Amino acid sequence: MVGLDVYFYGKKIGKLTEKNSRLSFKYNEYADTPLSVNLPLQKEAFNDKLTRSFFNNLLPEEGIREAVAKYKQVSPNNPFALLQEIGGECAGAVELYPEGYVKENESSVLKPITIEKIAELLRNQAQVPLLMGEEIRLSLAGAQQKIALAIIPEDSDNYYLPQGDYISTHIIKPQNHYFKDIIYNEHFCMSLARKIGLSAAVSFVRDFAGEKGYVVKRFDREKDTVLPTGLKRIHQEDFCQVLCLPDKKYQKEGGASIKQCYKFIANNDFSNKADALISFLKAIVFNFIIGNSDAHGKNFSLLHKLGKYELSPLYDLVSTQVYEMLSPDLAMSVGGEYNPNLIHRNHFNNMAKDLGIKPNIIEKIIDEMTSLIINSLPEIKKQFSPEVEIINKIEMLICSRIEQISSCF
Ligand SMILES: Nc1ncnc2c1ncn2[C@@H]1O[C@H](COP(=O)(O)OP(=O)(O)OP(=O)(O)O)[C@@H](O)[C@H]1O
Ligand SMILES: [Mg+2]
Repeated sequence: MVGLDVYFYGKKIGKLTEKNSRLSFKYNEYADTPLSVNLPLQKEAFNDKLTRSFFNNLLPEEGIREAVAKYKQVSPNNPFALLQEIGGECAGAVELYPEGYVKENESSVLKPITIEKIAELLRNQAQVPLLMGEEIRLSLAGAQQKIALAIIPEDSDNYYLPQGDYISTHIIKPQNHYFKDIIYNEHFCMSLARKIGLSAAVSFVRDFAGEKGYVVKRFDREKDTVLPTGLKRIHQEDFCQVLCLPDKKYQKEGGASIKQCYKFIANNDFSNKADALISFLKAIVFNFIIGNSDAHGKNFSLLHKLGKYELSPLYDLVSTQVYEMLSPDLAMSVGGEYNPNLIHRNHFNNMAKDLGIKPNIIEKIIDEMTSLIINSLPEIKKQFSPEVEIINKIEMLICSRIEQISSCF
């Protein structure tokens, strides 16, 4: 039986094994902190379902997963083989290495990467999946191309590859041939979220020697005064992991619903539960207003902090509805409706009733948020060149979504 050593916060804490296509995970005697909500500390090995729901969700999805699998000559349906190849730098505080690999022998020297090289990687994304660039062992979820690098110091143009003890600090997404100006779209939506007071990761658009990329600061990495690298990992899990949904992103196919996420927060040990519940509801309203149909269970995460959970800052906020080739249907229905064109205030009221909260709570969120957005839009727009046409499209969409939910129908 082959195995992968699982490291957590830099310490070897267990083994992931595969037998007859079934996964199993077992902690060793050094484990002192649970890796997942669904993997509490215990002596016995975990079954395929519980193991898969955590580990499979660390991997990329769809076309990116297929491209990585092809590149590495393994099957896209084989999470064990994929993690063996790329499961080094992952989301949160987990790392996987082939059994017996001596991690401590890895070079702990910062390995720089020039902006010209980054530009080349971004340009060659069709030939070499970005997660494979420079042969680093990097695995991040999602269907979009991305790479993770360290920027040290944070506000500089000094980029480094994640390797050894040096972990990545930022995620970079390239332009997408099919979805015009998606990098500006995401930066605009993230900027608007921050401007109206939502907690969203820090983002910017940068020019890498002629290739533009969207850059987002990792919220699962923090400065550390003890470690020689000055950086440490913070653990995160997405809602597909915590709800035990190994390969289902969308509610229609059995993925997470608003109610399941809300109930999870309500029933678990969050450091500020009332705040987390309201933040989650605000994120739902915000995603509706910006026209983000892709707010699925993997686009919400929680952070593990001092034995309790916190909702992570928002990420992957994109107005998907401005791209006509994408289905407008929402990843999670609102008040039973998936079609955003048919959603009005009463759908949010029905959602509130279904969650067991008073409709006036959601009405207050809608009213406050719509006025904050209307007041903030001009200033956020000013930060983008008028040549980026997508911004006007998003603004028009936002205005019509606000109109839809401004009163009852
Ligand atoms: N700022 C961040 N800090 C830490 N982790 C992040 C951050 N942004 C994204 N992630 C992690 O990386 C994963 C992929 O990122 P993201 O959702 O932005 O990618 P995507 O490919 O656009 O996703 P999708 O398939 O939903 O379009 C997330 O699910 C999350 O685990
Ligand atoms: Mg995503």
